[in-house]
Amino acid sequence: MQELLEKYDIPAPRYTSYPTVPYWEEETIAESEWTEHVVRVFERDQRLSLYLHLPFCEKLCTYCGCNKHITKNHAVESPYIQAILAEWKMYLDRLPGRPVLSELHLGGGTPTFFHPENLRQLMEAIFETADIAPEHEFSFEAHPSSTTLEHLEVLYELGFRRISIGVQDVDEEILHVINRFQTLEQVRFVTRTAREIGYDSVNFDLIFGLPFQQQAHIVKTMDLVGNLMPDRIAFYSYAHVPWLKNGQRAFDEADLPNAVSKRALYETGKTLLEQLGYHDVGMDHFSLENDALYQSAQTGALHRNFMGYTPVFTPLSIGLGVSAIGDTFSAFAQNLKTLAEYQNAIAEGHLPLLRGHFLTEEDKRIRMHILNLMCRYETNWQPNDKKDLILARLAEPFADGLVEIRPFGVRVTEPGKGYLRNICLAFDARYWDKVPGGRVFSQAV
Ligand SMILES: C[S@@+](CC[C@H](N)C(=O)[O-])C[C@H]1O[C@@H](n2cnc3c(N)ncnc32)[C@H](O)[C@@H]1O
Ligand code: SF4
Repeated sequence: MQELLEKYDIPAPRYTSYPTVPYWEEETIAESEWTEHVVRVFERDQRLSLYLHLPFCEKLCTYCGCNKHITKNHAVESPYIQAILAEWKMYLDRLPGRPVLSELHLGGGTPTFFHPENLRQLMEAIFETADIAPEHEFSFEAHPSSTTLEHLEVLYELGFRRISIGVQDVDEEILHVINRFQTLEQVRFVTRTAREIGYDSVNFDLIFGLPFQQQAHIVKTMDLVGNLMPDRIAFYSYAHVPWLKNGQRAFDEADLPNAVSKRALYETGKTLLEQLGYHDVGMDHFSLENDALYQSAQTGALHRNFMGYTPVFTPLSIGLGVSAIGDTFSAFAQNLKTLAEYQNAIAEGHLPLLRGHFLTEEDKRIRMHILNLMCRYETNWQPNDKKDLILARLAEPFADGLVEIRPFGVRVTEPGKGYLRNICLAFDARYWDKVPGGRVFSQAV
């Protein structure tokens, strides 16, 4: 086990997209080309998955890998909402018809930084311009320290039925090390109140591999899970990328668990979750049997996008707000990453695009393989696959019992599930064409 962990603890993408962002080819992306792809998908299917990035947080959690803007000044809310609505209008002006919202996700940053009435104003303005699909999934990310009863009530009235609560770890010392301010009481309050109001699904975000985190901390966190029984758990591997995220420089690398201890933290968490009745549904994600995520994993309908795993698949995703990513399946586009650049672009009246990628036929094929592996732990060969090259790269994982090679494809074995990023890497033609020289990805374990 130790040998395997050491061998496979190499930098590797988390595969929220393929090609992964460092391999996108368009350093800038023309608005007309991107919208052409958007319109083409929309003409076939008017359903839309809308992601709204709400970047503000009052305090910086030093481990954070997200795109956020730290401020205590709530006067930023209204101009930001106006910018998002202006961006949305630019899409509406280009779409040949009224969109049908099938997925809606408020991510961040901290969506609950915003006053509930401001969130209402934002959502109602969007709902006036779109229909809502009969089967829809509306979700938001909630920080326990800023989520009030009013947030929960207003978002429920607006149709949100899924809440994802950032818990990370419950130990006070660990929370202190990561500069995160929340109490157990707040986590309990948000979870129980969401249930009482009628939310269908409560998710907890947890992290293993944080500085100073030990077995006892995982046990303590899972005690709380056992107590509150959220429907889903995202049990993330701490991604240490201090060259990208300044806050993480506050950590001494010697205080982070090594690959072996980190994997032991995961294994403890996984065992305790399974004892509580959770099922592993994909990389780092667990779900109770009554939740749609488990059911879609059973039927093979599970899908993965930039926001993580989802039980529904919508071909067109539009991202609004700073750094948000859109995806047509034939193209990706990401918005400008700083608030000032984003707001300037909107004020100038053009889509605030930073970079993107148009997928080749080979990209699309590899993307399907990676999605299949991430969501179903198996994939079947397609005509034109560079099978010999992929099999050569899988020779070691095969020898180590991580994959089964079948006449029609590849299947991840039970022990292989812990090395999914490494297995996907074997399919990643763009990575092997240009192996990164410097630090680009976080460690796979
Ligand atoms: C935008 S935050 C969630 C909402 C809210 N800002 C909060 O912190 O509660 C998204 C999630 O990403 C995860 N995350 C952030 N930085 C991470 C990192 N460096 N490694 C692994 N997971 C990370 C955390 O679990 C966090 O809850
Ligand atoms: S973890 Fe959440 S609250 Fe903390 S800085 Fe990141 S986005 Fe903000």
